[in-house]
Amino acid sequence: DTVESVIVAIDGPSGTGKSSTSKAVAAKLGLSYLDTGAQYRAITWWMITNGVDVADADAVASAAGKPAIVSGTDPSHPTITVDGLDASGPIRTQDVTSKVSAVSAVPEVRERITELQRTIAASAVQGIVVEGRDIGTTVLPDADLKIFLTASPEARAARRSGELKGADVHTTREALIKRDAADSSRKTSPLAKADDAVEVDTTDLTLQQVIECVVTLIEEKRADT
Ligand code: DC
Repeated sequence: DTVESVIVAIDGPSGTGKSSTSKAVAAKLGLSYLDTGAQYRAITWWMITNGVDVADADAVASAAGKPAIVSGTDPSHPTITVDGLDASGPIRTQDVTSKVSAVSAVPEVRERITELQRTIAASAVQGIVVEGRDIGTTVLPDADLKIFLTASPEARAARRSGELKGADVHTTREALIKRDAADSSRKTSPLAKADDAVEVDTTDLTLQQVIECVVTLIEEKRADT
């Protein structure tokens, strides 16, 4: 049996388990994996280290084409480099997290990163799981399967502060709500559920249950094509 190549888009706000789910599903099914949030974080990190004022949309727009961003797509070892430097640590800092929404709202940034994403998806012969905010709506509108993960703000904040090792839940909750509001209200390809996406509320599910649910949806999709 030759396994059909399958393109899966997984979108949703932060703290819904998108990354953990996407990586595990891709590893389980032998698919590539792309974390598009990491790409927006990487370009934000470059802007900061190169002295670009992230509040100045024109400055961000004219610098958008400068950094070379390369994403590795192995789900068991995701990598990201900027101008050849390993960016996987620095992109997770509080400084980058607080500035990424402003940078990713700039249309020139989105154009640039969207093009990278489409190239990576097109070259993944076995298929790929792509996670983000606008994958089903804008980047890959013809994806074979679109999933939109949600969870209550409380559950999302609790998961995030767990990841941040003991960060205060209330502070995390406020920052997360602010970032989601910015990501959902920007003009260019905001965070949104595609009309043909399957919505999965993960509030009362374990990570294992979410993974199983997504694997089942992919297998069903493969069976009827
Ligand atoms: O998934 P994440 O928290 O690492 O994403 C970081 C930011 O990147 C998020 O706040 C908004 C932006 N982003 C985006 O605009 N479009 C995507 N497809 C993915 C992320």
